[in-house]
Amino acid sequence: MGCDDKVDCGRRRLVLATATVGGVTGIVAAVPFVASMLPSERAKSAGAPVEVDISKLTPGQIITVEWRGKPVWIVNRTKEMLDSLKKVADKVSDPNSDKQMQPEYCKNETRSIKPEIFVAVGICTHLGCSPTDKFKTGAESGIDADWQGGFLCPCHGSTFDLAGRVYKNKPAPDNLEVPAHKYLSDSKIVIGIGQDGKAA
Ligand code: FES
Repeated sequence: MGCDDKVDCGRRRLVLATATVGGVTGIVAAVPFVASMLPSERAKSAGAPVEVDISKLTPGQIITVEWRGKPVWIVNRTKEMLDSLKKVADKVSDPNSDKQMQPEYCKNETRSIKPEIFVAVGICTHLGCSPTDKFKTGAESGIDADWQGGFLCPCHGSTFDLAGRVYKNKPAPDNLEVPAHKYLSDSKIVIGIGQDGKAA
């Protein structure tokens, strides 16, 4: 299946939701967005770390922020979502995250620093489309009846679990990238600097 105009296909068209949760405000930004950026926004786009307040991110919610021009997801996983990771371990192609798609401090069962908070770059490792969150379990168009929740890339059907691990026999070769990040406090994360103090 090819990309169509409903699909964010590649990095040129960035779909960006703000980090606001509660009174959620969504922004869809395309190419002109870059041209109209303020200097500080340009710096962020060029690679400056991005701080995110996750104090209002309730279990089961996802927010998307922009970092280096890419969408970065932050998901607050429920216990059921975390339990699903074990259930699908034999169905994903790199269950132990052996490929270097995450910093060392996220090379664990949940691919995260805190088990419940998952941070990932929302760009498919096949050809760069932005997958869609499909947190509801069960069958739906493009996914199987035993679906445990995760992400579906609409471009060519790659599916990822709730830790961004790609399912076997899909076009995407690798798990979703977990970017360098660290906690500034319980409710604040910075993307782009690691727990180990290293910049991404
Ligand atoms: S870009 Fe091809 S499956 Fe995601």
